[in-house]
Amino acid sequence: MLLLDGKKLADEIKLEIAREVQQIKLAGGKVPHLAAVIVGNDGGSLTYVGHKVKACEEVGIRSSLLQFDETVTEEFILKEITKLNENSDIDGFIVQLPLPKHIDPDKVLLRIDPKKDVDGFHPVNMGKVVLGLPAYISATPQGIIKLIERYKIETQGKHCVVVGRSNIVGRPISILLSSKSKTGNATVTLCHSKTNNLKELTLQADIIIAALGKPEFLTGDMVKEGAVVIDVGTTRVPDTTSKSGYRLKGDVKFDEVAPKCSAITPVPGGVGPMTVISLLLNTLKASKHEVD
Ligand code: GUN
Repeated sequence: MLLLDGKKLADEIKLEIAREVQQIKLAGGKVPHLAAVIVGNDGGSLTYVGHKVKACEEVGIRSSLLQFDETVTEEFILKEITKLNENSDIDGFIVQLPLPKHIDPDKVLLRIDPKKDVDGFHPVNMGKVVLGLPAYISATPQGIIKLIERYKIETQGKHCVVVGRSNIVGRPISILLSSKSKTGNATVTLCHSKTNNLKELTLQADIIIAALGKPEFLTGDMVKEGAVVIDVGTTRVPDTTSKSGYRLKGDVKFDEVAPKCSAITPVPGGVGPMTVISLLLNTLKASKHEVD
């Protein structure tokens, strides 16, 4: 059984990005610049954005954090987004979700210029992904694809079962894996909470993507010998022995499933570290205007 080490791979890719940023600097080019908008003081969101800013620093990408009070109006945020769209010094930006209840996330995402939408959440980018056109692919699906690519996992002709149909993971990864591409050409079954006989389907899978957000949902009896299992779950469960007071649990019952697999991602240290890398790659893409 091969452990798909997302942490190690992410560190390798970080070095490659750092080298490329250094070359841009040496050539006198503009240093890529990411902005992150955060509204309010949600602990989880502040931690995530903190990781993103730190990763930028590590590779030499400039970052600006725009933090606004929980009480700001929707109109105020929409105006700030327009300013970022028009600011030529900013190559790409993200608006951290969730937003406070009085701000409509759909309105906010629609206001972002798709050329600067390094999260890949704008419908224009989602649509381009569906059509196989150059686009910003959102962080988690892109991280999974990079993991598959670097570990040379064969997807062509394979039966891939995706469990979970969210807009940010399940649906886009099902499209990428079925697309005509080096890391695609799979036959994909997209399963969700209303799927009948889920176990029958997962037992047929050569590759399983577990992205439903239910800790330890995928058990050993649901997986065939030799399958590749990619665990996207990151549920925080209370843990008094840990300094933070919680620990991350994946969607896969690792101890049961791992012995049956040809390859599997751990949680933590699998898909998670690859998602931040994707944001860095998208920021680099934005600075080179590859999606314009
Ligand atoms: N909230 C949780 N994950 C994400 C993400 O990838 N991007 C943004 N903008 N908000 C999030």
